[in-house]
Amino acid sequence: MAVEKYAVIGNPIEHSKSPLIHQAFAKQFNKVIGYEKVLAPLDGFDVTLQRLRAEGYLGANVTVPFKFEAFNACQELSARAQAAGAVNTLSFNKQYIAGDNTDGCGLVNDILQHQHTLLAGKKVLLLGAGGAAQGVMLPLLQQKPSHLTVANRSVDKAQAMVDKFSSHAVSSETILQVKTFVDLSLAYDIVINATSAGLTDNSLQLPVDIFQANTLAYDMMYGRETPFIQQARAAGAHVADGLGMLVEQAAEAFYLWHGLRPETAPVIQFFRQS
Ligand code: ATR
Repeated sequence: MAVEKYAVIGNPIEHSKSPLIHQAFAKQFNKVIGYEKVLAPLDGFDVTLQRLRAEGYLGANVTVPFKFEAFNACQELSARAQAAGAVNTLSFNKQYIAGDNTDGCGLVNDILQHQHTLLAGKKVLLLGAGGAAQGVMLPLLQQKPSHLTVANRSVDKAQAMVDKFSSHAVSSETILQVKTFVDLSLAYDIVINATSAGLTDNSLQLPVDIFQANTLAYDMMYGRETPFIQQARAAGAHVADGLGMLVEQAAEAFYLWHGLRPETAPVIQFFRQS
């Protein structure tokens, strides 16, 4: 039987850990799969998709900057993808392309399983209102935190994002609100950085008392000590980077394609050590 072929599409793509993660998962089930990095030209996402489908690939993960184009390329979208407005997991059927978004689920599973922190009933602060933040809104709300506060440099953008969710996705147990950074006054149980400020080593102008000794400060970025992590650590919070989220979003994609739930802890540990 031919080997099932999958890929991760991005630009750039060389740094991607997805092939190693998916191969580690496949090994747990003695499955042999193909999983390649595919560099799509910035103006060539759709052509790349057509090629992969024609070559018999069964699915693809999608990373920066193509998650919105992937959304537009799908004929079927999961509720998670619709809420995120972006797609990171494509399944190629004979007639159509189905899209899902496993990023938010990956974040939530990492917080619950590996950070040993419940979100239900907790005060959660989400920093940022771009694609990364929108991608995690629905799965966070589904956990029924007591508060989900969204803070962003441009407050109008945060308000527009929150408005998309306030009508249908919010349980009566959750206070969903928008703040500027300077207006933040609560001490939060969980603070999640979904801004891209860390990419340029910029600090966020955050009041220090949003952090307390048992706050989990979670940066969705991994592989570098961001100013956010430094700020949170200095304020005495527990800190976590986005490596667990990366592995967990891949595990959910693996489940969508293969119907199998891989063990994630050993894979996270492998990357932490290497
Ligand atoms: P992504 O897909 O990574 O979310 P994006 O859609 O460009 O990228 O969104 C970037 C997010 O990081 C936004 O919330 C942005 O804030 P603005 O909406 O005010 O632009 C935030 N961000 C980026 N650099 C920042 C900085 N130096 N300080 C504060 N926020 C920053």
